[in-house]
Amino acid sequence: MILFDEKNSIFKIDTVNTSYVMGLADEMYLGHVYYGDKLQSTDLTYLLGLEVNPFTPEQKPGEKVSFMDCFPMEYPTKGLGDFRESCLSVKRMNGQEQTELVYKSHVIYKGKQTLEGLPSTWGEDSETLEIMLADEITGIQVTLLYSVFDGIDAVIKSVRVKNTAAEPVFLTKVLSGSLDIRPGSYETLSLHGSWARERHMSRTPIGYGSMGIETCRGISGHQENPFLAVVSEGTTQNTGEVYAMNFVYSSNFMVKVQKNQFDHIRAVMGIHPENFSWKLSAGEVFTAPEVVMVYSGSGLGRMTQTYHDLYRNHLIRSAWKDKMRPVLINNWEATYFNFDTNKLLDIARSAKAHGIEMLVMDDGWFGHRESDNSSLGDWFVNESKIQGGLKYLADEIHNIGLKFGIWFEPEMISPDSELYRLHPEWALRCEGREPGQARNQLVLDLTRPETAEYIYNSIAAILKSAAIEYVKWDMNRPLSDIGSSYLPADQQGEIMHRQMLAVYGMQERLLKDFPELLLENCSGGGARFDPGMLYYSPQFWCSDDTDAVERLIIQEGTQLIYPLSTIGAHVSDCPNHTTGRVTPFSTRGDVALSGTFGYELDITKISQSDRDEIPGQIDKFKKFNPLVLSGDYFRIASYQENHDYDCYQIVSKDKKKSFVTYVQVHAKPNAKKKYLRLQGLVPDGLYQIGEDIYLGDTLMKAGIPVPVIFGDYRSMIIELNLVDSRF
Ligand code: GLA
Repeated sequence: MILFDEKNSIFKIDTVNTSYVMGLADEMYLGHVYYGDKLQSTDLTYLLGLEVNPFTPEQKPGEKVSFMDCFPMEYPTKGLGDFRESCLSVKRMNGQEQTELVYKSHVIYKGKQTLEGLPSTWGEDSETLEIMLADEITGIQVTLLYSVFDGIDAVIKSVRVKNTAAEPVFLTKVLSGSLDIRPGSYETLSLHGSWARERHMSRTPIGYGSMGIETCRGISGHQENPFLAVVSEGTTQNTGEVYAMNFVYSSNFMVKVQKNQFDHIRAVMGIHPENFSWKLSAGEVFTAPEVVMVYSGSGLGRMTQTYHDLYRNHLIRSAWKDKMRPVLINNWEATYFNFDTNKLLDIARSAKAHGIEMLVMDDGWFGHRESDNSSLGDWFVNESKIQGGLKYLADEIHNIGLKFGIWFEPEMISPDSELYRLHPEWALRCEGREPGQARNQLVLDLTRPETAEYIYNSIAAILKSAAIEYVKWDMNRPLSDIGSSYLPADQQGEIMHRQMLAVYGMQERLLKDFPELLLENCSGGGARFDPGMLYYSPQFWCSDDTDAVERLIIQEGTQLIYPLSTIGAHVSDCPNHTTGRVTPFSTRGDVALSGTFGYELDITKISQSDRDEIPGQIDKFKKFNPLVLSGDYFRIASYQENHDYDCYQIVSKDKKKSFVTYVQVHAKPNAKKKYLRLQGLVPDGLYQIGEDIYLGDTLMKAGIPVPVIFGDYRSMIIELNLVDSRF
């Protein structure tokens, strides 16, 4: 519920358990008043602290700069006295960049608009507040948008900037939101990583000055996820305050957290201003992507569940969103580039015999690609490998009884490709410089409409040429050499964002033209695992690291924000190709169970005993996947923290079914049975576990017994079913 209290000049946005409050000073300046557990009253102006020095500019014009220096501006700008982190910079033709935003009007309405060309949350059971601010000198109008969805403790922010002046201006910074937090002992929680070890949870105490995370790679990146939470010191799963921000965008971003002279904390998030300058001509509008803010007054668990529910119900759009995905087998770790039609059909036949439902042909089927040094851009089938052609292969796979999927890397071009020989100007490059390669490839300049059009049409032609049910859309290098021979000099600063918009545009078309297609995004593993991509695809390849132990950490970080149903997780062969670790086949299966689940190995070559386990693993997947798709996730213990064992639990929304995954990473001599406290059960419900019956209350307060297992890397799945709740 959103309301405006005219008497107090207070805007109050309520969700089930939280309130987000803003207020006006001098009827002009929009200040941040409060974000936290739900408040009943709107008599909150005193929280702006305006009755003590310094006074507002109206009361004390001689101290306007001092006012700006400490007022908790809701959407701060720089240059007029607020010396903290800012959100907006507008460069005028005279070279000056100051903007003073004052309140003009507002509107509250049912529903929520989607953002044109950008991913955004959606749904009719929502309400929106738009607050219009304006700067008379520059003619810039800023609309702050706030939306909430019924039953969900999240506030979604975005910003529209309009140029109402006659001259163009250059936007050199347009962040999507800011949050001022009162003094306290806080830490940041973010998801840090690298290739093959994405999204490791990382905490840092907040000290004086600015800190933060960012990427300028043109993808959200392996290194930092566009997520940051300011959490009170010592926050656990069930205790502590959490102010979380997640950016619905897949390219350059910045989060800055600043503790100032008064111990106040300001956190801002948005498109990274580096390499960004957007020419906004008279009458034009720029829309900044959404930030999803979640507050939890009771620890991280609630934040996680809020993000999961929001993204499952109001972000992902795919027809596959709530459906069990086919169990796939991908040939990447099985064959790398060394495959042909016969090899794929051999894999498919054995896969079918063991209950697998789809074969995905990964990199290497097109152009003359035998390694990663050629053919990106040449999206036509390599018939010397795929003998008989793509349609023949797809038909044969369907005859075997499997669905068929295929890999693309649409945003790239190999210097050794027909496309590059024809169109060297289609790669991003700076005048006079040879563009730098990574993985032997260059990035296509998708700001050039004919390039995006050509690539889209090539992909669509392939998808129409054979029965293809699934696409893995990969993106394997960061953007460098940010120059376009298409855009004029004064728009070169738009390349990074336009490139992203072009990718979004291509994926949007793909979904419209092939509505039943199961699209899985990927970026050198999980380098673009963000809410932006989830708007287009219901799942994302989580990491090129398929080692079950490393996956415990990667998946814990990913599950902190993103629904389990979105997390691409496969069982691969051992020794693991990334870490060399050998883990039991059963553990690899149990760990992949809390993601999309599939196989990434040569099923014709693994041991007979591993192969024999596959049908049983698939049965488990079918049994527990409905919980994975829609249940509540609880983190019980973290291997990243205790270095010993991992444990998480999923409970159906009606609390009748649950399963617990326990992985003992390291065996300990002379260890004792553990009792792990479960969560989310009906306290007075009786739950059956194997032959035994336990009271929910007991399992949550005293714990579930977990036996000592002999050996490293052992896992078990514990199933719970509510049998009675008569107490
Ligand atoms: C990336 C992906 C892998 C695989 C290769 C193919 O690394 O993450 O899964 O598709 O590319 O080149």
